[in-house]
Amino acid sequence: MEKKIFIKTFGCQMNEYDSNRIYDSVKKIGFKKTNDQENADCFILNTCHIRDKAKEKVYHEIGRVKKIYRKKSKPIIVVAGCVAQAENNEMLKREPYIDAIVGPQSYHKINDLLEKFVPKNKKEETEFDTVSKFEYFDKIENRNNKVSAFLSIQEGCDKFCNFCVVPFTRGPEYSRPFNKIILEAENLIKNGAKEITLLGQNVNAYLYVENNKKYRISNLINELEKFSELNRIRYTTSHPRDMTDDLIDCYKSNKKLMPFIHLPIQSGSNKILKLMNRKHTVEDYLITYEKIKKINPKIEFSSDFIISYPGETNEDFKETLNLVKKIKFINSYSFIFSPRPGTKAANLKLIDKDISKERLITIQKHLFDYQAKMNKSFENKIIEVLVENKLKDQSKLFGRNKYFNSVIFEGNIDNIGKLLKIKIDTSNQNNLFGKIEAKKNMRAA
Ligand code: SAM
Ligand code: SF4
Ligand code: F3S
Repeated sequence: MEKKIFIKTFGCQMNEYDSNRIYDSVKKIGFKKTNDQENADCFILNTCHIRDKAKEKVYHEIGRVKKIYRKKSKPIIVVAGCVAQAENNEMLKREPYIDAIVGPQSYHKINDLLEKFVPKNKKEETEFDTVSKFEYFDKIENRNNKVSAFLSIQEGCDKFCNFCVVPFTRGPEYSRPFNKIILEAENLIKNGAKEITLLGQNVNAYLYVENNKKYRISNLINELEKFSELNRIRYTTSHPRDMTDDLIDCYKSNKKLMPFIHLPIQSGSNKILKLMNRKHTVEDYLITYEKIKKINPKIEFSSDFIISYPGETNEDFKETLNLVKKIKFINSYSFIFSPRPGTKAANLKLIDKDISKERLITIQKHLFDYQAKMNKSFENKIIEVLVENKLKDQSKLFGRNKYFNSVIFEGNIDNIGKLLKIKIDTSNQNNLFGKIEAKKNMRAA
């Protein structure tokens, strides 16, 4: 009999991609994806360890699942993702309700684990077996049929920023074979993808060598450009040090590469970047920024900021603010530093909570202000929108413009997958609202 599986996903787009690939894999052994988390035979928590009390959140979530299933038969509980990798056996000991722990580089073992599942026989799979994982998944069709699809091309990280768990939870940097990525892209496009976002923890560090030929992300982008059915190409997350000239040059010739780059800098102070072990300076970042702006001044940037990293003075924080004012990032993430177990910065002296909160409020005020201004600049203009889906419980459609802004408008579901001209009437910090353009002769943005 067919069984039902529910995956609750936390964290970054790589986890989202992984959850979808796990669904593709378990289908082979009779597990069907369900959106009903109250009636599943298997419940997977795909977790994130990047900040805060990630571990506690998982236990809290398991407590919630326990309640749901108090009067029903217990589903198989699997903890996957970055917390699983970081905490492994400890979790099985602390929470007997968990049946298995599977790290991000062991997802090829999930089918076996579920097929051979014996209650009370706990399993833990946390090897860094990235090559086998991708070889396994290369043989399984990516059944994603979304208009905007993710495609992992690279995983892991060798950079070891002092604050970050990723090198420990995802393992060393690994780049998938070029031809396998293109085959997966071809399949996604066949299934209706009009936009592909190439993913990696350091996506622009992608490097695959075959017969002495080096393939970089620029080669992937140029190859994707050739698919006539594909409209848009994006990539995330990039590291400033890997913004090489070949990638920057893609912005000269590639018509499908979107004019919006998420390029995390973390701090505007060189002293702090050094303490973080970021391996780039503010000047390096600005050189890249200028090179790109020179190619196309309409390209916009977003970033990640860590506020109150240990050692950050008011002066350092001001330098970050100055950088924000200079670049006018259009959409960024900012969080107070969160000490992560096992990292070099785990035990450093923390900055006073109130000062940290005040700094966060200040930077977010600036960041949100630029975001809202950018959104406002689209009002009364016609923009090109890729229609992704219908909004839940509403008659409205949802799509994105080139800058990744969400756009909401009335329309028929036949428009899903199409590039439409939308006239923007109003906006707020997060969304643009408009209608499908009927009239001609409007100014295009
Ligand atoms: N590889 C990307 C880079 O180097 O910029 C970032 C990937 S990381 C998964 C995503 C973001 O999480 C980082 O850019 C950083 O701002 C944030 N982050 C990571 N560790 C953090 C910590 N300990 N405290 C607060 N934010 C953190
Ligand atoms: Fe984490 Fe990115 Fe630094 Fe790697 S480069 S350690 S993923 S922040
Ligand atoms: Fe979180 Fe792991 Fe992604 S820690 S941000 S799920 S790489």
